[in-house]
Amino acid sequence: MSIWSEHVVPRVTDLALGTADVRAVRARAVERARGEVVELGFGSGPTLPLYPAAVTSVRAVEPSAVARRLGARRMAATSIPVQHVGLDGADLDLPDATADTVVSTFTLCTIPDVERALREVRRVLRPDGVFLFLEHGLSPEPSTARWQHRLDGLQQRLVAGCHLTRPIDVLVRDAGLTVTDLEHESLRGPGPMSYLYRGVATP
Ligand SMILES: C[S@@+](CC[C@H](N)C(=O)[O-])C[C@H]1O[C@@H](n2cnc3c(N)ncnc32)[C@H](O)[C@@H]1O
Repeated sequence: MSIWSEHVVPRVTDLALGTADVRAVRARAVERARGEVVELGFGSGPTLPLYPAAVTSVRAVEPSAVARRLGARRMAATSIPVQHVGLDGADLDLPDATADTVVSTFTLCTIPDVERALREVRRVLRPDGVFLFLEHGLSPEPSTARWQHRLDGLQQRLVAGCHLTRPIDVLVRDAGLTVTDLEHESLRGPGPMSYLYRGVATP
């Protein structure tokens, strides 16, 4: 991995996804989190302070050592027990049906084998569990989508494998999950990066 991806991207991400706008939409995305949570792409832990009181523990999956270090202060500041349990959302070292909630925020864009990661989400969820996602992805607006396709390769090189063109709801459904709620929002900022999918899915 390059110095850019390993050291710069996690710090830029921590700042870019730590704004008040993002915090507000992030808080809405995890309103229904409860019980034992598995969080894919925990990053520097920006979602941690936003979890409702119903959350009893968080098992974090995060490959970046820099992001994990940045997250240490948030882990120290919360009363929720948090444990790092793995490096790859596509290969969870967790038994079947052991999570009440799986959370992914701005991570399905980056996991290389996203289809497999979503099958893992379904596998580790309890039958009454929920998958909460907040992701940027492919816009239904044709001119924005054209720009997303043009910029996708550059984005992947600059932002550690982040894709602009993933149709998040289609991927979630294709993994056998049932999408029960789906909202779209736009963040302030460049159109190709700001079309959001905020949703809930069940196994
Ligand atoms: C754009 S950041 C988002 C971080 C955080 N979830 C947030 O909302 O700010 C994407 C995160 O996915 C992580 N990631 C990359 N590949 C991954 C994988 N295979 N499994 C789990 N997380 C991964 C990255 O290290 C990074 O922390």
